[in-house]
Amino acid sequence: MKNRQSSSVLHDGFIYGLDEKILACVDAATGDLKWKGGRYGYGQLLLAGGKLVVITEEGELVLLKKEEPGLESFPPKDRPSVIIPFFAFRIMVGMGLIMLAVSWLGNLLRFRDRLETTRWFLWCTFLSFPTGFIAVLAGWYTAEVGRQPWVVYGLLRTADAVTPSLTTSTVLFSLVTYVLVYAVFIGFGTYYIFKLLRQGPTVEATAIPGATARRPMAFADDAPSATGNQPQAGE
Ligand code: HEM
Repeated sequence: MKNRQSSSVLHDGFIYGLDEKILACVDAATGDLKWKGGRYGYGQLLLAGGKLVVITEEGELVLLKKEEPGLESFPPKDRPSVIIPFFAFRIMVGMGLIMLAVSWLGNLLRFRDRLETTRWFLWCTFLSFPTGFIAVLAGWYTAEVGRQPWVVYGLLRTADAVTPSLTTSTVLFSLVTYVLVYAVFIGFGTYYIFKLLRQGPTVEATAIPGATARRPMAFADDAPSATGNQPQAGE
């Protein structure tokens, strides 16, 4: 740091100084230059009450505002992939918005007594079944890829956190086992659900007196209570 007559300031693990007349920030632990910007000349740099103050060469007093450091202020080896969290986050939020739209629209149709008869909406509801699953995966990718290359930020890199005894073949074995077990569960579950859907309702539907889309719980009016007693009129 070429400050000339003024000295550098150490604050929150970073060294600030007027390097060749321009304010610069250096990581105190690594010595890496984080950023450089703001031409104040060879003035004075002070730390007052946790705030950085510059007295410029012309005698002007400048209070520096703290800003979030951008990704480019980190060396490339400390940056995560940007493209995956960028899209994964948007996919997650998109799925969330689809879920909100389906539920709000469903309620609107319900209040207009058109929920069961609006065929296109029933299709939308049916086709939106994977949204939760996709959103969870996208959210997980956002969080996991976004925190790379660290397991514990600033302390433990992912590359150093790998269990030394773990070999490619053991990882491959557990991955293949997981995939097979889940394939069996999901395959059977899907087959069973579709079988039930194809079969359709097994008991003949009987109209429940008083039940409407707005009052689906009307069947409780005539249902026996937990004690086996029939509800009396007016109960
Ligand atoms: C609708 C708007 C949504 C917003 C604004 C939002 C926002 C966020 C944010 C900020 C994160 C943290 C990312 C990080 O670690 O940097 C996150 C993570 C996550 N989100 Fe979302 N999210 C939304 C919808 C959803 C939905 C609908 C689901 C699932 C049904 C979901 C599931 C997740 C999961 C699983 C994670 C990862 C949590 C972790 O492992 O730490 N998100 N979300």
